[in-house]
Amino acid sequence: MSSEEILQEIAVEVSTCARCRLCQGRTKAVPGEGSPGAKVMFIGEGPGYHEDKQARPFVGPAGQFLDELLASINLKRSDVFITNVVKCRPPSNRDPEPDEMAACNEYLDRQIAALNPQVIVTLGRFSMAKFFGSEKISAIHGRARKKDGRICIPMFHPAAGLHDHTKKDAIRQDFKKIPLVIAEAERLAAEQPARVVVQKKREEEPPQQLSLF
Ligand code: URA
Ligand code: SF4
Repeated sequence: MSSEEILQEIAVEVSTCARCRLCQGRTKAVPGEGSPGAKVMFIGEGPGYHEDKQARPFVGPAGQFLDELLASINLKRSDVFITNVVKCRPPSNRDPEPDEMAACNEYLDRQIAALNPQVIVTLGRFSMAKFFGSEKISAIHGRARKKDGRICIPMFHPAAGLHDHTKKDAIRQDFKKIPLVIAEAERLAAEQPARVVVQKKREEEPPQQLSLF
């Protein structure tokens, strides 16, 4: 199956999923969307009010800021893939619970495997925790690291920048690093044709700081 077909299959499963309690309050599940050939994947937290109504990620105020950030580095939504740690809206936009993230994690892992992005940008602390453990976002935002054969870069959640100008500036600055990170990821990929094998070996290694960034 092509990555497009696999991503579509995951989206269909997500739309009727009842693996955790978040299915009870949702209007529509939000599997994620974008190009099946995207080199960059953005992972947010979970759907909010607007996303839950439209079944599309980042379409509310945080999404408008994300669109602006993408435009600032000449990327469109259709160039990237955007999804979330949990695919159904937590009631009143509360934080997702550990058991909900665990229940939903398989979908995210399958999306990552299908897309095989060179770069993963985590938006906010919940997706950051999946790749960077218990580190503090205020300390490591904007710092790219090699992980599992790709480059991951943690960033503040765009919603955090909506009412906090310091964070807004930090997100804007961090986004400007993405083109350089993509170029570096392409260089690494060209160096490693046997990436799948390399990836297996690396799974146990801690994230590696890239001195470049
Ligand atoms: N916030 C998120 O984390 N994800 C969305 O899809 C929308 C807002
Ligand atoms: Fe299923 Fe994820 Fe929705 Fe929970 S949040 S019901 S695991 S799709």
